[in-house]
Amino acid sequence: MRLLFVGDVVGRSGRAAVLQQVPLLRQRWRLDFVVVNGENAAGGFGITEAIVQEFLAVGVDAVTLGNHAFDQREALAFIDRQPRLIRPANYPPGTPGRGAAVIENAAGARLLIVNVLGRIFMEALDDPFAALERELAPFPLGDGCDAVVVDVHAEATSEKWALAHYLDGRASAVIGTHTHAPSADHRILSGGAAFITDVGMTGDYDSVIGMDKDEPLRRFTKRIPSGRFEPAQGPATLCAVAVEIASTGLAKAIAPVRIGGLLNAAAPEFWS
Ligand SMILES: [Fe+2]
Ligand SMILES: [Fe+2]
Repeated sequence: MRLLFVGDVVGRSGRAAVLQQVPLLRQRWRLDFVVVNGENAAGGFGITEAIVQEFLAVGVDAVTLGNHAFDQREALAFIDRQPRLIRPANYPPGTPGRGAAVIENAAGARLLIVNVLGRIFMEALDDPFAALERELAPFPLGDGCDAVVVDVHAEATSEKWALAHYLDGRASAVIGTHTHAPSADHRILSGGAAFITDVGMTGDYDSVIGMDKDEPLRRFTKRIPSGRFEPAQGPATLCAVAVEIASTGLAKAIAPVRIGGLLNAAAPEFWS
């Protein structure tokens, strides 16, 4: 099974990369599933229903979120009618939407997708380990579903590694998001889970983590906000990972994908 997971899509430039590349990559690599982190898709903050629909229309199977999940207030309402939109599982009970979803593709393969938020250097939330336990229990790998991907949306690399080891053997892929900078440590863990600390953002890298440089620089140097954060508008680099999953549900290979924009290009050799 072939999975493409695309990192945090930032603003218009990131969305354009998704809309252009996903249909091409689906075909070129005969992808079974495409999952996109969309927490920054609407002007850098949250996501709208129109954007979710645009993504699904070009071949995205599901959209995960993060700490910016509800920055667009409309998400609190539409998330309940959008079963392919997944917010962090460790929000308090009663939060609209779902922290996990099983998506079935045209060939009948079933992918469980879970999203959790870290707690280090982030807002206080419920325990992500306990939330994962709860979400994974009904869908054991190879029984309730054919593959499991967990989007670990966290700031601290230590917490991401710990969550990955905790999930190893029970997840096909543990994909770090949120920092907006791709890490070079993609690998298969000893128990068979594919892992990367952070997949990187899909946005303009001539920026401060996707935002136009001027306002972040003013805030860092003068401390006083003097404008809004706006997404940088240059061409995006689509940052993703390609994961090949065996019939056991464990991963066989993982490789970075970088297309367009300022970063060096990368593509999985095992799909060429
Ligand atoms: Fe993000
Ligand atoms: Fe985030």
